[in-house]
Amino acid sequence: MSRLAEALARFERVGLCILPTPFEPMKRLTAHLADAGSCPRLWVKREDCTGPGFGGNKLRKLDYVLHAALSQGVDTLVSGGVVQSNSQRQVAAAAAKLGLDCHLAVYHGRVAPPSPDYELSGNALLNRLFGATLHDVPWDGDRNGAIRALAETLRARGRKPYVVPYGVSDPLGAVAYASTIVEIAAQCAAQGIVPKAIVHCTGSAGTQAGLVVGARLALPGTRIVGIDIDAEPERVRRDVVSYGRAAAELLGQPFDEADVEVVAGHAGPAYGVPHAATVEAIRLAARLEALVLDPVYSGKGLAGLLALIRAERWSADDDVVFIHTGGAPALFAYRHLFDPH
Ligand SMILES: Cc1ncc(COP(=O)(O)O)c(C=O)c1O
Repeated sequence: MSRLAEALARFERVGLCILPTPFEPMKRLTAHLADAGSCPRLWVKREDCTGPGFGGNKLRKLDYVLHAALSQGVDTLVSGGVVQSNSQRQVAAAAAKLGLDCHLAVYHGRVAPPSPDYELSGNALLNRLFGATLHDVPWDGDRNGAIRALAETLRARGRKPYVVPYGVSDPLGAVAYASTIVEIAAQCAAQGIVPKAIVHCTGSAGTQAGLVVGARLALPGTRIVGIDIDAEPERVRRDVVSYGRAAAELLGQPFDEADVEVVAGHAGPAYGVPHAATVEAIRLAARLEALVLDPVYSGKGLAGLLALIRAERWSADDDVVFIHTGGAPALFAYRHLFDPH
């Protein structure tokens, strides 16, 4: 067992996720990009396939975080996010699977609804389908304030709520996400490769924090490259450092701030607003690899990776892994971008 796997074995999981998630070459996307210039061999880690309720990166975090919750005897999960949040959809799915009630603070005002579909389809529809109770609240920039207030109200009514923070990003969520590196290290070893980089989109920062901590131990030659999708690269970087440091402490491992790279410039005009590069990335992934990306997270992540490839950051002999962090249901809320009829 690797040192990272040993360190992680001290933390228990509920067993929500189907692991390991698949790891595949993206041969057609690689060939397409190589036609226009030098392109590393591209691989994809399918974190959109983690399991219940259409999967995604948050379920891997919830697998560990909810073990801690259940051991406290809670009966209700409380979380929140924007109308099309993948995070709250995964919390709602996990609650359904575990037989817990779910209350969600749905933030209005961070993203201007781009179409009538936005409020009704995709994740918004799934939250209701999974049986969550939705509470509409105005966005005031505080990601966790309304979630905590909702939990207090439920506690006063005699419930035993557990607060799942915005994006499931906290030190334990970051510890959980380090487990992705155990899988990627084994899957790369089976292919006989050592990736130069792992590229993914980063927002509430727990995903990147876990990857950075894990890679330091199990893939030291691999750079973790987070593509900022929040249009707040400095805030994202600070949060990756903070969760990463705390997660490394929980794992009894060292942490180096120099390992944290957050790339700015690919978030489009604002959070939740896709630009032409996002649409191009989503179309390419669909037509060449049958991958369904979304316009808020994974589409912008791939757009960032395409820009780095075109800027010749890597050579044709390198291997680069893209993490598909999920989010496909949100695509249906942005149908107008792809199907104007
Ligand atoms: C599909 C998808 N990818 C990536 C992320 C970013 O992960 P993190 O918030 O841990 O940075 C999210 C977060 O909501 C997401 O929904």
